[in-house]
Amino acid sequence: MSTTIAVHRLTHAFIEPAARLLADSMRDNPLHRRVFGDDELQVARVLSTAFVRLLHRQLESGLVLGAFDGAALVGVAAMVPPGHCQLPWREKLSMLPILACSGQLKRLPDIHRWLRSWARHDPPLAHWHLGPAAVERARQGQGIGTALMDAVCKELDQRQAIGYLETDKHRNVCLYRRGGFEVIAERSVLGVTNWFMLRHPRQA
Ligand SMILES: CC(C)(COP(=O)(O)OP(=O)(O)OC[C@H]1O[C@@H](n2cnc3c(N)ncnc32)[C@H](O)[C@@H]1OP(=O)(O)O)[C@@H](O)C(=O)NCCC(=O)NCCS
Repeated sequence: MSTTIAVHRLTHAFIEPAARLLADSMRDNPLHRRVFGDDELQVARVLSTAFVRLLHRQLESGLVLGAFDGAALVGVAAMVPPGHCQLPWREKLSMLPILACSGQLKRLPDIHRWLRSWARHDPPLAHWHLGPAAVERARQGQGIGTALMDAVCKELDQRQAIGYLETDKHRNVCLYRRGGFEVIAERSVLGVTNWFMLRHPRQA
């Protein structure tokens, strides 16, 4: 791993670059492509606007961590405490103009099925919910995701809290397993395999 990577909590000032990074890195995730289509530029635009809203909200209730190489933001991971996993209806409705502006209202039924499926798998025990998370494309595979995961796990262990996440890439499962997450379910969501993973805190 690069020795220059430092992980800090982000403030509201960093939300827009963080949202852009997440959107650019996640524009070709299988579930995003399934829901929003194959035009990656278009997918990135929709995700970026939606992530700005989501991250501001996550920052108020939980933590948004940023990985920095010097002054450059190269990775982001968000986590929210128990009781904040599901967006309230007010927040969901506020996403409608974002979809409308990008001509994506037709995606609503799929978005609804996707979120309903994730909500159904949400474990009924108090947990911190992780995501979204990503590393800048050009910097993937250099240990930055591991540094972010270590910081997330440290936050969880300090609170003796359970962590939970969903992922739609098998390669990510290996990374999260190394941090102590275990697969508790594997399901198809809109025809895309998703892995649901839980981590119990390590004793101090
Ligand atoms: C998943 C992700 C955050 C990992 O960060 P990273 O800095 O690339 O990861 P690291 O270098 O610390 O660790 C490498 C491990 O990450 C996983 N990984 C997943 N996608 C990867 C990618 N594109 N390149 C390299 N490693 C990747 C693998 O398990 C890999 O281990 P391996 O090389 O033994 O297979 C990053 O690759 C990414 O942003 N991917 C696209 C968006 C995404 O899928 N986000 C997670 C949503 S749950």
